[in-house]
Amino acid sequence: MQFEILGNTESVSKQNNQLIIKTAEAIARVWVYSPTVVRVNISKNFNTADESFAVIQKPENEFSIEESGSEIKVRTDALELRIQKSSLRFSFYTADGKELSRDDERFGVNWQGSRVINYRKLYPDEKFIGLGEKTGDLNRRGSSYVNWNSDVPLHGITSDPLYETFPFFIGIHSGLTYGLFLDNTHKTYFDFGATTDNQMSWFGADDGDINYYFFGAQSVAEIIKDYTWLTGRMEMPPMWSLGYQQCRWSYMSAQEILDIAQTFRDHNIPADVMYCDIDYMDGFKIFTWNNETFPDPKSFIDKLKSMGFRLVTIVDPGIKVEQGYKQYDEGVAKGYFATYPNGENYVGEVWPGRCHFPDFFREDVRKWWGESFTALTDPGVEGFWNDMNEPAAWGQNIPWMVKFGDKFMPEVRNVYGMEMARATYDGTKKISGRRPFVLTRAAYSGTQRYSAVWTGDNSAYDAHMLLGQRMVNALGITGMSMVGVDIGGFTGDPTPELMVRWNSLGVYIPMFRNHAMKGMKMREPWRFGEDNEQIMRKDIEWRYRLLPYLYSSFYQSHTTGLPVSRTLAIEYTFDDTVYNDSYQNQFMFGDSLLICPVISTESSVYAYLPKGEWYRLGSDEKYEGGKDHQVDAPLGNLPVFVKAGGILPLQSIIQYTDEKTDGILEVNVWNGSEPNTFVYYEDDGSSYDYEKGSYHKRTITFDPYTRQIIFSAAEGSYSSKFEQIKLVLHGFGSEAKVQEHLIDYSNQEIEIDY
Ligand code: GLC
Repeated sequence: MQFEILGNTESVSKQNNQLIIKTAEAIARVWVYSPTVVRVNISKNFNTADESFAVIQKPENEFSIEESGSEIKVRTDALELRIQKSSLRFSFYTADGKELSRDDERFGVNWQGSRVINYRKLYPDEKFIGLGEKTGDLNRRGSSYVNWNSDVPLHGITSDPLYETFPFFIGIHSGLTYGLFLDNTHKTYFDFGATTDNQMSWFGADDGDINYYFFGAQSVAEIIKDYTWLTGRMEMPPMWSLGYQQCRWSYMSAQEILDIAQTFRDHNIPADVMYCDIDYMDGFKIFTWNNETFPDPKSFIDKLKSMGFRLVTIVDPGIKVEQGYKQYDEGVAKGYFATYPNGENYVGEVWPGRCHFPDFFREDVRKWWGESFTALTDPGVEGFWNDMNEPAAWGQNIPWMVKFGDKFMPEVRNVYGMEMARATYDGTKKISGRRPFVLTRAAYSGTQRYSAVWTGDNSAYDAHMLLGQRMVNALGITGMSMVGVDIGGFTGDPTPELMVRWNSLGVYIPMFRNHAMKGMKMREPWRFGEDNEQIMRKDIEWRYRLLPYLYSSFYQSHTTGLPVSRTLAIEYTFDDTVYNDSYQNQFMFGDSLLICPVISTESSVYAYLPKGEWYRLGSDEKYEGGKDHQVDAPLGNLPVFVKAGGILPLQSIIQYTDEKTDGILEVNVWNGSEPNTFVYYEDDGSSYDYEKGSYHKRTITFDPYTRQIIFSAAEGSYSSKFEQIKLVLHGFGSEAKVQEHLIDYSNQEIEIDY
C-alpha cells in the first residue's frame, strides 16, 4: 500500500470563483459559498466531474485572497481561512481571529492506498454532535463511526454502521462552534478522538476526495440553518402524516386492516394512518396486489378513507426475476437494472426471491419507477414507504463489482436509498399534485428534500427507546426533522409499561408510528388492558391537541432547518450538563416544551432544567433552571416542562386530522420575565398552494414589560380554520386581569392586556 502526505505548494492560481493550489500529490480547490460556508476539495483525480447528491447551492462568484511567501488567506465577513503553503495545511478562524478548526500539523491530509484521511487538531474541551442515525452518546467525543448503509436487524445499542449516512458534525470548543460536512459518498470514517493521542480527530473515505464544507456560524442553530441551506430543507409535510400511525408487519388482509381501523374508531383512539407492509403484494412483487387477500384495493381504501384513514404501502427496490411481471419485463427490455461487469443484470435475493435492482442514479429509471406508482395511487394510496434500500439482500454482501452505469457499488451505495426516495417522491408528487408522504430507511445528506426517515429495526427494551430518542435528536441536527422510530420496538414484545412509556414519548416524536415485527404480539393501543389503553388514548389525544403547535414547528423546519425534536445542545450548547449521560436523552419539542424520557421501570426521574424558569406541564408547578430536580413520573404522566414565556397553541381533540375541531384555537401562555414570540402557521395541509401565498401566518408575542399578548395581523391569503381564540394564561397570579379570554378570530392585529 502506498502512503503519501499532502506536501508543499507548487503553484497558486485563482480562476473566477475558485482558488487552485497544486502540490506534487494533488490539487486543492477552495470556494466560498456564503460568508459562513467555505468548501475545500483536495483531489488526486483532477478530471472528476464535480457532482453532488446533497448540495443544491452554487458558490458565490467572487472572493479575494491575500498571498504572502508562506501563507494564503481567504477572508469572508465571518471567516478567515489561513492556508499554510508548505506543508499545505488549512486552518479556519472567525473574522476576529479565534481559531475554530485546523489540520493536524503532522498528518494533515494523506492517502493510505486509495483511502484519503484528514487528521485535525482535537481541542482539549472539544465536543462533537451530529452524524445523524448513529448509536452512542449525544457527545460523540471518544467514539468512531463508519458510514456504509447497511440493513442491521437486531442491532444493539452500540452497533455501527446502520442504515443511513449523514457525514456532517458540529464541533464545540472554547466557547466556539463550527460545522463540517464531508460530501463523499464512498464508505466514510469519523473518529472523534477515539484512536489517537487525544490531540487528533480525523475523518476520511475509502476513495474519492477530501471534499468538505466548513461552517463557521457562531451558534448550533445557525450552523444547522446553513447546512440545510446548502443541502435543502423539508417541504411542509402533509398534515395527516402528523397524526398517529399504526403499522405492523403481518396485517395479512384488507379485512384485517379495516377491522383494526374500525377498532380505533370504536375505542375513540385518534389515528390517521394504516400501513400495508409486504404482505399486500402478490408474491412480494412491487406494484402488485395480492388478489385473494386484497381483492379490491380501491374499495378497501375508500372504506378506510370514509373512516378518516390514509393508507401507506411499502415498496422495496428488488424487482422479482419473473417473466410476465410488468416491472421485470420493462426493466430488462430497457436495461434499467444494476449489472455485473459483463453487462448482465445483477441478481440478489430479497423477499420475492431472486431480484434485479433498479439503477436509481439514472433519470429515465427514476421516471419509470415514479410512473409505476399508479398501481398504488389509482386505488388511493397516499404514502410510500421505501424499505430495504441500503440496498439490502440476503447475506448482506452485495459484491462490490456490481455496477450502476459506469459506477461500482462502493461509490454509490450510501446514496442508493436517497435516490430511490427521490424517484418515489418525484413520481408520486407528479401523479397526485399533492404532498406525498415518503418514508425511507436508507438515506444520505439531503434526503430531507424528499422523505421522512425512521431508524429501522429497533428492539423492545428501555435502552433502545432512549437510543432511539438520541437518534431522532441527532438526525435533527443533520437536517432530518420528519423522523420516527418503531414505537414499542420492532423486535421483541414490550412490557405493558414499556409500551405505555414509549407511546407517551411518541407524542413528542415528529413521526408517531407504532410498528412491530411479524410474530410479535399484537400491539395496538387496546392490547395492554383497560388502564393502559386509557393512558395511551389520553396521550394520543394530546398529540392531536398539539397539532397547531406541531404544524407551526414544522414550518420552522421548512424555513430554517431547525428540527422539531431538538437536542438541548442546540439551544444550551455551552451548558456541559446537557451532555451528561443522565440528561443527554432530554430534548426540546418545538420552542417551548422540554421532554424527559423515562424508562419503564422507574416512576420518578432526575430532570435537568437549563437556565431560566420552567413549569411542569399539567400542574403548572414552577421549577428553577440551571439545576436538576427529582420529579414524579408515574406511568400516566411523562415529565414535560414548559419554558417560562412559552406559547403553545392547541386545538380540541379530534379523531383524525381532517375532522373538524370545535373552531377554537387555544393559545396557552406561561408567565416569564422575558418577552417571547411564536410564529403560528396554518395552510390547507395537503396542497402546494402555500408556495403561492395561500397560508395563514402570524406572530404571537408575549411581552411582560407592557403586560400584553399581541397577535400580529395575519399574513397570507389562506383563511384560518379557527373561529375563535381562547387565551389561557398560566402562572400569572391573581393580579392578571385575564386568565382565560375568548375572542373572535380576526386577521387584524389583536392586543390583549393582562
Ligand atoms: C424490514 C423493515 C421493517 C419491515 C420488514 C418487512 O425489516 O425494516 O420495518 O416491517 O422489513 O417488510
